[in-house]
Amino acid sequence: MNLLPGGRFKGGPAGDDESMVRARRIVFDAGLYDPVIDAVAAAVAQVHPTCVVDAGCGEGTYLQRATALAGAQGWGIDISKWAIRLAAKRHRDHQYAVASSYALPFADDTFDALINVFSPRDFSEMQRVLHSGGVAAVVTPGPRHLNQLKAIIYDDPHEHLEPSVGDLPNDVPTPDHIEMLTFDLYLDDPALRLSLLEMTPFWWSTVPERRDIIAATPLTVDVDVRLMLYVKPANIA
Ligand SMILES: C[S@@+](CC[C@H](N)C(=O)[O-])C[C@H]1O[C@@H](n2cnc3c(N)ncnc32)[C@H](O)[C@@H]1O
Repeated sequence: MNLLPGGRFKGGPAGDDESMVRARRIVFDAGLYDPVIDAVAAAVAQVHPTCVVDAGCGEGTYLQRATALAGAQGWGIDISKWAIRLAAKRHRDHQYAVASSYALPFADDTFDALINVFSPRDFSEMQRVLHSGGVAAVVTPGPRHLNQLKAIIYDDPHEHLEPSVGDLPNDVPTPDHIEMLTFDLYLDDPALRLSLLEMTPFWWSTVPERRDIIAATPLTVDVDVRLMLYVKPANIA
């Protein structure tokens, strides 16, 4: 189902392409991101949700793990038709649609929990679709995330920095809880190293010679992400 305004994302990007989505599925099926996926599921389960939405759900693993742990129903949206196709094919008990996180196709006060992982977000939309007391679990990259890959790809790699509070738009709330999730991945399988690269935006800036280096070199890679929880207060409409 396509619920983008006007049936498409006006002049904007179409989201992740098929190979990126499939690469992410390979990495998740190999268990490489389990600590992150499980932490999101545990955070969502804390509010005992009956209905959970993933805004920017990709291929659906985060939503699947969270709904399975909580015994909840799941809805997922993404602007990538490839992501939605792959998610809907595997997770048949969820409802999926091509839609934008900037115009969530849901009524106000619909969900007990919302997931948003490495994906664009609009806090007013997130608050709107959550019940009072509902939780939004947001994951963003930490400073050292995938540093060793970046060191091969870029001549002058930079740490990923969060904008300082003064640089944020006014509608960005302060998280109620922040947790850093940090662990190493030892990647001795060349195919998995390339899938990890391909599921990231770094893929597009990696010249063929550096892809070859990544394919040929067993690596230990830092995963460093920030899990933030935002609880919708009772007095927000
Ligand atoms: C890095 S991927 C993360 C996917 C998934 N959350 C995960 O971690 O596996 C970013 C996702 O955001 C989607 N996306 C980009 N812009 C979006 C928007 N405006 N609304 C909804 N999804 C969007 C992309 O298509 C892609 O699936």
